[in-house]
Amino acid sequence: MPRVLISDKLSPAAVQIFRDRGLDVDFKPGLKPAEIREIIGEYDGLAVRSATKVTRELIEAAPRLRVVGRAGIGVDNVDITSATARGVVVMNTPFGNAITTAEHAIAMMFALARQIPEASASTKAGKWEKNRFMGVELTGKTLGLVGCGNIGSIVADRANGLRMKVIAFDPFLSEKRAVELGVEKVELDALIARADIITLHAPYTEQTRNILSRERIFAMKKGARLINCARGGLVDEQALFEALQSGHLAGAALDVFETEPATDSPLFTLENVVCTPHLGAATTEAQENVALQVAEQMSDFLLTGA
Ligand code: MLT
Repeated sequence: MPRVLISDKLSPAAVQIFRDRGLDVDFKPGLKPAEIREIIGEYDGLAVRSATKVTRELIEAAPRLRVVGRAGIGVDNVDITSATARGVVVMNTPFGNAITTAEHAIAMMFALARQIPEASASTKAGKWEKNRFMGVELTGKTLGLVGCGNIGSIVADRANGLRMKVIAFDPFLSEKRAVELGVEKVELDALIARADIITLHAPYTEQTRNILSRERIFAMKKGARLINCARGGLVDEQALFEALQSGHLAGAALDVFETEPATDSPLFTLENVVCTPHLGAATTEAQENVALQVAEQMSDFLLTGA
């Protein structure tokens, strides 16, 4: 009977699916890297979210391992090259949390446009600063999507509903699909120059690392806003800090950071920055979806090789 280790906090529904499918499953979230390395040799499958780093060392300590399942979208916590070299299949769940993440980006957009976190803190502090918080309307603004895949396309749909003008840069987006989504396909530099708000929905790869470089950040429109619910490494954080501090950008909403957990950052000192701790996929619905999907996919693979 194939054995599966779940080393991150996955919905209990996943454990049940593995059991129902006849697999032997151990649910051990919170183990230290060395502790996982010590036991991984006993398992055929490893199910993770983002806390477990599936490094070369871990893969080398796992002679039986056939599959790593990532309950979520980004697989940047898995060393794919080492996994592939050892014949270990890496699978993700590209659809399960897409709506939830898109909704978080939209929530961040409203939070930024109306300074809701600061206004809430000020009101709770008894200040009633009615004149301090002057927002901007979203209707009619140009939203620039960097990445228009599973998540970006849902953001586009919601933004169209808000009567925004949506433009998108995505090398994999066809003209036909862009028309279906109601977005204008543009090159990255055109998007940077035109967008009032830019939202990132691209994976973190060698090609996309620092895609919002210093040069591009300072090429954004004066008074523009940035939302990042994708990956911290997509943005030059130091340049972003400078652009926000100097007033070149009006604000940024960040769910992800170059180093996570992010417990300290110059960005935290700025009033025009809204931050959340990588909550993009954090809804009960999305976590249930990704847990069920990863358990089904891994079970299919381990039981049938398909
Ligand atoms: C993902 O890649 O699925 C999201 O960033 C959510 C997560 O990492 O938990």
